Amino acid sequence: MANTNLKQAKAAKNDEFYTQFNDINAEMNAYLDYDKDVFRGKTVLLPCDDPEWSNFTRFFAAKFDELGLKKLISTSYAPESKKYKTPYQPSLFEQNAPQFDPKKTSLKGKIFVLEKDRTGDGRININDLEWTYLKGDGDFRSDEVTKLRDEADFIITNPPFSLFREFLAWIMEAEKKFVLIGNKNCITYKEVFPLIMHNKIWTGYRSWAGGMWFKTMNEDDYDRIDSGIKMKNVPSFWITNIDHGRRHQPLSLMTMADNLRFSKHKDIRGKLAYDRYDNYDAIEVPFSDAIPSDYEGVMGVPISFLDKYCPEQFEILGNEYDLNIERGRGYINGKRMYSRVFIRKRS
Ligand SMILES: C[S@@+](CC[C@H](N)C(=O)[O-])C[C@H]1O[C@@H](n2cnc3c(N)ncnc32)[C@H](O)[C@@H]1O
Repeated sequence: MANTNLKQAKAAKNDEFYTQFNDINAEMNAYLDYDKDVFRGKTVLLPCDDPEWSNFTRFFAAKFDELGLKKLISTSYAPESKKYKTPYQPSLFEQNAPQFDPKKTSLKGKIFVLEKDRTGDGRININDLEWTYLKGDGDFRSDEVTKLRDEADFIITNPPFSLFREFLAWIMEAEKKFVLIGNKNCITYKEVFPLIMHNKIWTGYRSWAGGMWFKTMNEDDYDRIDSGIKMKNVPSFWITNIDHGRRHQPLSLMTMADNLRFSKHKDIRGKLAYDRYDNYDAIEVPFSDAIPSDYEGVMGVPISFLDKYCPEQFEILGNEYDLNIERGRGYINGKRMYSRVFIRKRS
């Protein structure tokens, strides 16, 4: 029981990581490089994003005209409803607004809408945001935020990590375009992996290497301080169903014979053949860059392969769970291997 509480407390803490502007900018630019009109005439909903904190709102508000957006909606979650609470004080922006309500400020979510040039300066940007309190606390699952979801073309945010499965399901049931950030563990969830396998969703432009740095609200758990701001490195990744160029770039690979002679990995170089699983008809490829370019059969590759997966180059057959592999894992000479993704070259 104590263990469960600890786990929940940790998960709640991880719900309060804030994304850096540069990371959002680099990721969105990859979708725009692929299709410069991807957001033109569209409504974007940012459902976990208070402009006081969220660089997602700042990014889309700043680029409203450039992207040709139709409407931007950003909703925030009530401070009192957060599982991991930090001292709350309404901002001066909120307190100075005529609609400020001291009874609602910590109990209600807020909605911010950007649609027209209110200031009359000929541009639509963050100064034109209109806001009001929501009826409820801004939970993405509430009827009022779900209605906003239905109105939107794109749902974009870094959602609470502890609710990732539910959040993705909430988007998928409405068949919306999305860009999200998830913890790397999410990739193997049974609610996520099959969607990747069937090319319904995929990892974003940014490589998984090095994780991502977030602003953290946790006083004690951080990895560095940047200009007074506590930052945490989290093994996380972007996940989306918007196309980008990187996913269509095939991995550059060597033949099996060349791998066995020249691979930089000593587990491969000098061997007579790749290992085969005792309990499944496939070869074990312990590194994505050691996938033999000319092998036609099934290969077990590390989960990190998904970061480099090009659907025109390989087909994903499943993981141990989908393939119902005996004893739940590949074994080689009786030794249990790491969890793998099973793939085959496309002809
Ligand atoms: C990981 S943070 C990211 C915040 C912001 N999207 C960003 O990237 O900087 C997730 C946010 O979602 C909020 N949140 C937690 N549970 C929520 C829920 N059920 N509905 C909506 N927002 C929620 C958290 O309080 C937190 O502010």
